[in-house]
Amino acid sequence: MGNRWKTCLMAAALGAMAVGLAACAADDGADESTRAQQDTADAGIHAPAGTMDGDGPAAADGAVAPAGSAPASAPEVAGASGGEHDNLRQTAASLFGVIPEAPTEVSGRTVTPERVELGRMLFFEPRLSRSHVITCNTCHSIGTGGADNVPASIGHGWQRGPRNSPTVFNAVFNAAQFWDGRASDLAEQAAGPVQASVEMNSTPELVVQTLSSIPRYVELFAEAFPESEGITFEDVTIALEAFETTLVTPDAPFDRWVQGDDSAMTANEIEGLQLFFETGCASCHNGVNFGGQSYFPFGVLERPGAEILPVGDKGRFEVTSTATDEYVFRASPLRNVALTAPYFHSGQVWSLEEAVAIMGTAQLGRDINEEEAGKIADFLRTLTGRQPEVVYPILPPSTPDTPRPER
Ligand code: HEC
Ligand code: HEC
Repeated sequence: MGNRWKTCLMAAALGAMAVGLAACAADDGADESTRAQQDTADAGIHAPAGTMDGDGPAAADGAVAPAGSAPASAPEVAGASGGEHDNLRQTAASLFGVIPEAPTEVSGRTVTPERVELGRMLFFEPRLSRSHVITCNTCHSIGTGGADNVPASIGHGWQRGPRNSPTVFNAVFNAAQFWDGRASDLAEQAAGPVQASVEMNSTPELVVQTLSSIPRYVELFAEAFPESEGITFEDVTIALEAFETTLVTPDAPFDRWVQGDDSAMTANEIEGLQLFFETGCASCHNGVNFGGQSYFPFGVLERPGAEILPVGDKGRFEVTSTATDEYVFRASPLRNVALTAPYFHSGQVWSLEEAVAIMGTAQLGRDINEEEAGKIADFLRTLTGRQPEVVYPILPPSTPDTPRPER
């Protein structure tokens, strides 16, 4: 599909236009994009596996007219009329929306309290790693925005992985997981790090053997998965997914503002939001997570230097083996971005203002000056929501049958 990126760019341009239209004539435009936003949000939670996979024109689809017809129940936007910024607020409400309550179902799997509770233990369980040292929380620390704030995560034997760790907060709303979208949902994703040699370096067999040697886990798995016989690796990933669905961050200043609280954002931050639309950021970063829905080349118009875009990591090309997918990555979700420096899959940029300016030249062919970058970055800081408060679990002790840690 040689025209794919042309299509994608057109889609991006159309997206920007749609925004422009919505901003001038809020009614017509808003309806259209409300539907688009709801569909994309919907895709993140209920879409069948593979929605963003394969070599379909994912970007074009995701950017303007996502497939699917059943709109998710969008959160009520209270007080969205009668104010100075009516049009802007309506456009923002329809293109992004407010972080909803934690979903009760993911990819057809019910989130039960038993699974969430077990998933919380597993998220902090060092014995999922071969060394008995590394947990999910090592690289996705709940206390630091669900990420680790280093350029590339450190895993088994102090090895450095190739990419920056994205936040697990609100990940349930992404249409696919990883920088290149190679996992279609959180359960499929969770199977990755446990086995990755540079991360936890374990195997499904070792994990099952380890957990099965601990009587308390045998009980907890039986309660959470009454249909399963004994502990299975798949149930480990489903429990982790269930816990991760609770890691949502509602009530960001942006959300409060969209719902009608004028005092939730400053004039400067509102100008930043306007610039986010006007410069075209919203054509790729949209949906409730401000991204996470579709793929684009990093460097649509100008490829960043190798220090920011290392030549060895070809992004989605490694998933699809399609030439047009070279250096294609998922448009990053931007919720809580103020907490998750350094930026980009290479983790080479520490300042949010600089990341914004790089997006301007790389993705939009536009010089964003310092003042504009400052305002957009200030706006992005309003996407920091209420952080999840998670009680650190007490983990059941090992037994003589528990495999010992290995280096
Ligand atoms: C050694 C560090 C490390 C550990 C341990 C680790 N992760 Fe990750 N995680 C990463 C990195 C790096 C990525 C991005 C990899 C990529 O895109 O190729 C990632 C990606 C993710 C994503 C995708 C988020 C998104 O927006 O795409 C989720 C969800 C996630 N990890 C959950 C987990 C869970 C659950 C565990 C524990 C079973 C875990 N991680 C363990 C480093 C780690
Ligand atoms: C053509 C699509 C496109 C446009 C337009 C675009 N972005 Fe991006 N953005 C991306 C992609 C793809 C990535 C992931 C890049 C990578 O691989 O690291 C990204 C990453 C980012 C990141 C880094 C997030 C993180 O967690 O590391 C920020 C911040 C960002 N974009 C902000 C913006 C802003 C602000 C604008 C407007 C000035 C913008 N983007 C315009 C596609 C786009």
